[in-house]
Amino acid sequence: MSDENLNPIIQFKEWFNLAISKEINDPNAMCLSTISSDNKPHSRMVLLKDYNDEGFVFYTNYESNKGNDISINSNVCLNFHWKSLLRQVRIEGAIEKLSEEISDKYYNTRHYLSRIGAWASDQSRTLNNRKELEEKIEFYKEKYPDEKKVPRPPHWGGLLIRHRKIEFWQDMPHRIHRREVYEYQRGVWGRFTLNP
Ligand SMILES: Cc1cc2nc3c(=O)[nH]c(=O)nc-3n(C[C@H](O)[C@H](O)[C@H](O)COP(=O)(O)O)c2cc1C
Repeated sequence: MSDENLNPIIQFKEWFNLAISKEINDPNAMCLSTISSDNKPHSRMVLLKDYNDEGFVFYTNYESNKGNDISINSNVCLNFHWKSLLRQVRIEGAIEKLSEEISDKYYNTRHYLSRIGAWASDQSRTLNNRKELEEKIEFYKEKYPDEKKVPRPPHWGGLLIRHRKIEFWQDMPHRIHRREVYEYQRGVWGRFTLNP
């Protein structure tokens, strides 16, 4: 079924708000899967920081493993599992960098030490020992002593996943679950259901 008024974000908002009220921890935690240059999938958790009709946003180090993966292949998926609700949401789409302005705005809301950490951590690179990282943290604290003046590292910022397919999965008795899929094709959202 296609319908110009269909919008999966309306349903996502309803489910996400319920998750916020029920989950004991990190209702915004989502599994992000990417594909590396040797065609292998890689998954890790990240935190959803914003969402709207454009897509789903999180923040990271652009030079991390995930950053390298998406510079080669922009197709990614997200997965939320809200255990207390017995619900899963699967999202597929293409990922792109957010504007410098949006990344700056979010970066500046972060705690001083998180901003320093974004400078100090070569995310996904080998760390010889913890001391090495602690020394780098001290180095950047001395470099940027004024908490109000820590610039955003150019390698750190936001990413937007433009959703093109979203599946809402709801646990039902005796494993006769409900699966409802929204898919964007030829400029409109369609909706269909799947066998569990
Ligand atoms: C609940 C949870 C939330 C996380 N949120 C983020 C996040 O928002 N951004 C981020 O870069 N890493 C986040 N991490 C760490 C990532 O899972 C991962 O270790 C890191 O990004 C490096 O991944 P990569 O080497 O595949 O690039 C989170 C981990 C957990 C367990």
